[in-house]
Amino acid sequence: MEVFRIQGGHTLDGEVRVNGAKNAALPILAATLLTAETCELRNVPELSDVRFMLEILRHHGARVETPAPGVVRVTAESIHPSTPYELVKKMRASICLLGPLVGRLKIADIAQPGGCVIGTRPIDLHLKGLARLGCAITHKSGYITVDATRARGARVFLGGPNGSTVTGTANLVMAAVLTPGETVIDCAACEPEVVDLCDMLARMGARIENIGGPTLRITGVERLRGVTHTVVSDRIEAGTYAVAAALAGGEVTIRGARADHLGAFLDKFEEAGVDFDLPSHDTLRVRGSLGKLRPVDITTLPHPGFPTDLQAQFSALLTQATGAGMITERIYPNRFMHVPELTRMGAEIAVEGPTAVVKGATPLTGAAVMASDLRASATLILAGLVATGETWVQRIYHLDRGYEQFDLRLRSLGARVERLPESAMPGDLRGE
Ligand code: EPU
Repeated sequence: MEVFRIQGGHTLDGEVRVNGAKNAALPILAATLLTAETCELRNVPELSDVRFMLEILRHHGARVETPAPGVVRVTAESIHPSTPYELVKKMRASICLLGPLVGRLKIADIAQPGGCVIGTRPIDLHLKGLARLGCAITHKSGYITVDATRARGARVFLGGPNGSTVTGTANLVMAAVLTPGETVIDCAACEPEVVDLCDMLARMGARIENIGGPTLRITGVERLRGVTHTVVSDRIEAGTYAVAAALAGGEVTIRGARADHLGAFLDKFEEAGVDFDLPSHDTLRVRGSLGKLRPVDITTLPHPGFPTDLQAQFSALLTQATGAGMITERIYPNRFMHVPELTRMGAEIAVEGPTAVVKGATPLTGAAVMASDLRASATLILAGLVATGETWVQRIYHLDRGYEQFDLRLRSLGARVERLPESAMPGDLRGE
């Protein structure tokens, strides 16, 4: 296993370009199964989750080529409907195969994903939506079989206790585009990644009205055609670099950071006193703001609210603001696994139910810390950038699921971040 060593206290300067969004690329890759024609995807991030999705597409019988970096060509002439547990357990997002299989084959047989460290992650809303379309759903030995031979368009309310569902909306849209009749989805997720998927489906011949709105109206068509599509840029990656720059810049220019996708984040950035400007609609320039940061309160919500996927990173920022800021997590109420690790570095954070109170400004000191999920990993690295001394982050395979070459790109900005074998860690830090 590999670890990251971060030597804190070095200023970041320069330019970084964000990649295509992981959370758009995964359902978009799944959507290529909706047509027998070739789809060419561009701006696909090179991430372990993406490589894994390509493996799943091959498993289903699709021909997958990667002719150039960031380009994936998929031809799914003839596919089969079964996704085994060995595949699903490695990546929860494999559940977004459900919609395409139902749409194209009228049958899907997929292992039910388990929970993960950020929460229980149910799929009841995905199944409720398909049942409303008239699909027959059976559960057996951890597998779900969906039979859509009698499916017809219907009106579906897709909201749950925590609001809309991103992959649930993606799945229902992908099923509905090839289901006869009109499907109306109320409380559809409005995340830019869902919009990107719908835009691609529309260019494949799907009939979807009100893309980006909370009510989607879909009229089923008989078949979809191939398409060339460029994946939308990753707003979460952009926000992560923005926090890094606020903590450790210098001045960092982030290209591909779309202001229209980062509204709630930029609003809180401004309130927190971060020094930034927007030279163009997709460029964000952030200057180091230590010593000027003010505490803010944040509540995570579905888009266009503050994204849960930037909550942990923002808490690293709040450790350096003078005063107490409060973070309330409304999407995954237990998503605070980064807190004990930040505390080991000197942060003062109290968690009570779905709320964390971060008291700053506290000096951070390097320590050996453990990454628990993708965004928590990034957060510990951000904290390491401003900590004195060396921070060692273990289990960075979580990071590689969602950030392409994070170490190289931070290094290109002047950070001292290295990827090393675990054996390079001093034994006393590894707990030997
Ligand atoms: N929910 C239900 N029932 C369902 C589905 C969801 O109650 O059937 C609940 C969830 O428990 C949660 C809320 O609804 O409280 C929202 O979950 P959602 O379904 O939107 O999450 P997801 O689609 O499984 C995607 C991203 C996550 C991101 C969330 C929220 C992908 C592959 N994953 O997950 O990304 O946190 O939306 O925006 O798109 C990450 O990138 O680090 C990550 C975890």
